[in-house]
Amino acid sequence: MPALMVRIPQDQADVARHRFHADSYLPLPGLLTADGLDALREEARRLERIGRRRDFTMACMDGSPRHMTTLGGQVIARESRLIPDLYADPVLLDLLGSLTGERPVPVPDPLERHVLNILHRKGDTHGAHTDDYPYALVLFLEAPENPADGGLLAHTPRAVSLSDLDAGQARAVHHRPGDAYLLRSDTTAHRVTPLTRSGVRRTVLNFAYTTGSVTPRATPSARELYA
Ligand SMILES: [Fe+2]
Repeated sequence: MPALMVRIPQDQADVARHRFHADSYLPLPGLLTADGLDALREEARRLERIGRRRDFTMACMDGSPRHMTTLGGQVIARESRLIPDLYADPVLLDLLGSLTGERPVPVPDPLERHVLNILHRKGDTHGAHTDDYPYALVLFLEAPENPADGGLLAHTPRAVSLSDLDAGQARAVHHRPGDAYLLRSDTTAHRVTPLTRSGVRRTVLNFAYTTGSVTPRATPSARELYA
């Protein structure tokens, strides 16, 4: 099978680790190879047919909105080989170990391990939250070309509350298909800005990891969005 991801040399990973520790966010532009992007996009298209539309506000995350189609990790584990294999790929785990300085461990609940998030209608958004687990690797399969069309990641590192996102400190970043980012996702308040028009789509795979040094939070958020 052709490589799905490009290799990042150790010296670049060392520089990236310092940046990640300072910013809690690390862009990984072009992490997916052309073959990887093609294969994962095709897999996501197939899986989208069994995805579930979600439109609600999440009480445990300050009532922030969810308007999106999702597919939980437990269904992906049943329906896909490609995505669970990539999630557990030793080369990917080595890369994440280099970038975080810790050994990444799959999260215990299959539901949260690898999920598919699809924004596909005007107004679709993944509202403000923090994750239960410390690390999220997000792989972009589709994204609006124009940042004005929305679908940006807004984030505030080391947030005291989700309202920090509205306190003028949030950074909003644009990604392209094939890009990825790594987020310190349990202490960084984050959200995806709404799509501003119909006809654009944002499809990501979100891989969650934990480590032996962190006690995960127990919120109902993942069950509400992916069960
Ligand atoms: Fe998240």
